[in-house]
Amino acid sequence: MGRAGATAIPSPLVGEGKGGGDRRTTAVGIPPTPNPSPRGGGGLPSLNQDIDRQATTDPGFGVYVHWPFCASKCPYCDFNSHVRFGAVDEPRFVAAFAREIGHMATLAPGRTVTSIFLGGGTPSLMKPETVGAILDRIAAAWPMARDAEITLEANPSSVEAERFAGYRAAGVNRVSLGVQALNDSDLRALGRLHSVAEARRAIDIAARTFDRFSFDLIYARPGQTPEAWRAELTEALAMVRDHLSLYQLTIEEGTPFAGLHRAGKLIVPDPDLADTLFEITQEATEAAGIPAYEISNHARAGAESRHNLTYWRYGEYAGVGAGAHGRLVVDGVRRALVTERRPEGWLEAVERAGHGLAEDTALTRPEEADELLLMGLRLAEGVDLDRLATIGGVQPSAQAVARLEELGLVERSAARRLVATRAGRFVLNELVLQLARSFEPVSPTKSPGQEVQAGA
Ligand SMILES: C[S@@+](CC[C@H](N)C(=O)[O-])C[C@H]1O[C@@H](n2cnc3c(N)ncnc32)[C@H](O)[C@@H]1O
Ligand code: SF4
Repeated sequence: MGRAGATAIPSPLVGEGKGGGDRRTTAVGIPPTPNPSPRGGGGLPSLNQDIDRQATTDPGFGVYVHWPFCASKCPYCDFNSHVRFGAVDEPRFVAAFAREIGHMATLAPGRTVTSIFLGGGTPSLMKPETVGAILDRIAAAWPMARDAEITLEANPSSVEAERFAGYRAAGVNRVSLGVQALNDSDLRALGRLHSVAEARRAIDIAARTFDRFSFDLIYARPGQTPEAWRAELTEALAMVRDHLSLYQLTIEEGTPFAGLHRAGKLIVPDPDLADTLFEITQEATEAAGIPAYEISNHARAGAESRHNLTYWRYGEYAGVGAGAHGRLVVDGVRRALVTERRPEGWLEAVERAGHGLAEDTALTRPEEADELLLMGLRLAEGVDLDRLATIGGVQPSAQAVARLEELGLVERSAARRLVATRAGRFVLNELVLQLARSFEPVSPTKSPGQEVQAGA
């Protein structure tokens, strides 16, 4: 879940995969927040001129497939990704994916799949036939929506035109490219294997092959000035079709960047500069017609990532592969599922037991409420207060909402949604904490997960 807030709520369950990994798409495929600073900032205009533009109560049902291998490990990254010097036994992984998908379908039968996300790691290291076999197995396990979104994450350095065409033939209809920076020295500093020229070529190929594609950039990099970021963003916006993910660099504990940072050898922008860079990001993307629909994700209306919307709207999703997270409503109770992280350990577990689940926790209604709030406040459309009441059995107190409204940090929309204003997004952790602390019970007779089950 979003970095903002992942640490703020006293629930052990709301920090899955990187701040949701969020920017990002970690094991769960959820993208990260820009680490809003914990400072105030009331009085700024609202980001959400059109907050109801995509308000819908159907969160969909997604399947996340984790490919845990990369050609090399980037020094800032703490996703579940591993480097293997020998060839990966793809047929063995396909057989294990098939078994685990079958297991998830017995837990959550009959859902209609609205999206699939092949994330990593580096899924573009998989052969197209491997991808095709995994997609076929998913389609055999659940009914597929006719317009299901099927995204594959790709690294520019592992991209080849033939592979993209092969992925398309296998059923992929959207790619998300990890470009990260548009200057070669910063790419090298980030430990990336590709050059700007390769990234541009990869974007060209994606644009020719797919109707839908997106790419990621990381900003607030060491030494990055507002002018440099503005210029880079202008270049990036010229290459965008309709979706762009912009993540503030997060220093992750246990990574080489964290060690350098602690030693004073890697200086990242201070909170004021980071806020300025965030503000530049909002202004430039709004002016280009691809405003933020989530803290770090920008799209034209209708081009949002449906898969990630399922997470942020607190829908159900199955996660398969090493270290994947899922949220499934089983017998009326939402369960938080996590598989074994180590690829070989996951393989062996699936071959032994038919699934690689290492954790399976029934969420309480208060935990569901925390998660739903944390996820929903990341969205420009905000949190659906009726869903919060149905699923979590709570609502934020009128006094807390009024106080935060007065401070200019939240707004209420006509559709009974609570929305973080642009100023509120700078202090999202604190907002989540204050609203969650103010929760008071409503309609205590409803059973957990009731609404999701009905809609699934
Ligand atoms: C798990 S990666 C997978 C994509 C692909 N392997 C790649 O790196 O191009 C998803 C995205 O997370 C973002 N990311 C990873 N670590 C990050 C960090 N420490 N701070 C900010 N963004 C990060 C990058 O933008 C990356 O494209
Ligand atoms: S290629 Fe992507 S997933 Fe792999 S180490 Fe780098 S950022 Fe992480």
